[in-house]
Amino acid sequence: MTTFNINGQSHTVDAPPDMPLLWVLRDLVGLTGTKFGCGIAQCGACTVHLDGVAVRSCVLPAAAVGDRKVVTIEAVGGTPVGQKVQEAWRALDVVQCGYCQSGQVMSAASLLARNPNPSDADIDAAMAGNICRCGTYNRIRAAIRHAAKEA
Ligand code: FES
Ligand code: FES
Repeated sequence: MTTFNINGQSHTVDAPPDMPLLWVLRDLVGLTGTKFGCGIAQCGACTVHLDGVAVRSCVLPAAAVGDRKVVTIEAVGGTPVGQKVQEAWRALDVVQCGYCQSGQVMSAASLLARNPNPSDADIDAAMAGNICRCGTYNRIRAAIRHAAKEA
């Protein structure tokens, strides 16, 4: 059994060491807000925070998580930055189909936590690994600027 700190709670589950964190979250803990897209760290749909840093949970083995704090889309709104990001997403009506958006919000919140006033280049660099098949990129950039202004 392995114990994970997820969204401020301890979860002890029977996770094989090589099971990606994504499946720990979705299948063992029941947190399905984090999405599976590519499974090879190329799309960003599975992005979560590990000690505040955006990581691709589809390629992070359970054994590598250790006692670091995992935060998912279900709880990011409980952080001041995450709350601002989600408010901005709503204000600018960013979402289209929604599939990529958990990962987009997690990457945006991680960016603004370490850089409260990002330039356009900073935004593009931080968000480059998050693919949106619906092409919401312009609204995502505008929402990040909006969240930075409101924070
Ligand atoms: S599912 Fe993890 S990056 Fe695509
Ligand atoms: S909103 Fe549909 S994939 Fe991004």
